[in-house]
Amino acid sequence: MKLASRLNKLQISIYSELAALKEEIKHTGKTLIDLSIGSPDLSPPREVQELISEQALDDRVYDYTLTRGTAEFREACANWYKQRFNVDLDPETEVLPVMGSQDGLAHIFWAFIDKGDAALIPDPGYPIYTDGLALVEGEKIPLPLLSTNDFLPDFSQLSPQQAQKAKLMILNYPNNPTTATAGPEFFDQVVEFASKYKIIVCHDAAYTELAYAGTKPVSFLQAEGAKEVGVEFHSLSKSFNLAGLRLGFVVGNARVIKALETIKTNIDYGSFRPFLKAGTMALSSCQKTIETNQQTYKRRSEIWFKGCEEAGWDITRPRATMFVWAPVPTKQDSLSFVMDLARKSGVLLVPGVAFGEHGEGYVRIGLVQKEALLKEAVNRIKTFLLNED
Ligand SMILES: Cc1ncc(COP(=O)(O)O)c(C=O)c1O
Repeated sequence: MKLASRLNKLQISIYSELAALKEEIKHTGKTLIDLSIGSPDLSPPREVQELISEQALDDRVYDYTLTRGTAEFREACANWYKQRFNVDLDPETEVLPVMGSQDGLAHIFWAFIDKGDAALIPDPGYPIYTDGLALVEGEKIPLPLLSTNDFLPDFSQLSPQQAQKAKLMILNYPNNPTTATAGPEFFDQVVEFASKYKIIVCHDAAYTELAYAGTKPVSFLQAEGAKEVGVEFHSLSKSFNLAGLRLGFVVGNARVIKALETIKTNIDYGSFRPFLKAGTMALSSCQKTIETNQQTYKRRSEIWFKGCEEAGWDITRPRATMFVWAPVPTKQDSLSFVMDLARKSGVLLVPGVAFGEHGEGYVRIGLVQKEALLKEAVNRIKTFLLNED
């Protein structure tokens, strides 16, 4: 059996090493504290769960909803946008449901990138950006996210040839993995740069609702002219702890949305009707879940920050996302540190290099376990670091 060569272009190697490491630790009998995952452990809104179970018993909800989903869901997305960001959207042409933002982010390249076309991809960055581009045989122009520029891309570092070559640009704030946020001035700059070079902007906004410590992330679409140049992807996974529901939505430029819809119409037949109803309910009346999440991640980040301080591990206090992005506290590279820490202490993190070459030197810690377990993880790390000295 000969596999298609594109399979070799996907970045599976580090993730398979981490999976093997997990198995190895389980076999040693050590309890594994897995902080490598990005899946919320918190409960979805109870009323949403009840609605889904009630709806699932109705014979009429098993039809294809088709890619555009229901008008009710698209309207709920537009209303939420108006309320949250004061951005006006036409639910008919400027909103499209996706089966998780991953679905939208993976397929957007199919709509705009031919073999050899280039896209600007953040480095470090969430892996689907690089993999989605690789699947259409596009060329990646990395946008380094460096601590010296608050993990924002510096467009002045791109050559005019690179800027001219790029057809599409991915951005993501609040950012996974660096946890950085971006303000309105940055998005103004993005619009100016994208307009000048005719680049389609795809802003992954999966974490706008997961910010705390006084941080209130803005939408890219709030920038003047943003709708002319791009779209924004949202996810119900993190905002409402509905990761398994596979529901998100993309909003903004009608032509970009239409192109994505055309691709998706040939691939899927839409989300399950009760899930769209559930999403409508979440967006319309479950603000409380967002607030509870924010308080929970704030507490968890403080546990982590305090523990690291006591261990002499100098980290920046995160203000958004469910992660901590920390410099490797030993002289090892990120993968060796993660392997060593996991084997000796049973705490599993993600090496920064898994997110791109500029992620080297860092690790990503997921605040995705209950407080008691996080405290235990911090204690184990303290012991590990003491023994390393
Ligand atoms: C930055 C970012 N974007 C997109 C996603 C995908 O989310 P979903 O497909 O569940 O909406 C994730 C998931 O972890 C993420 O971290």
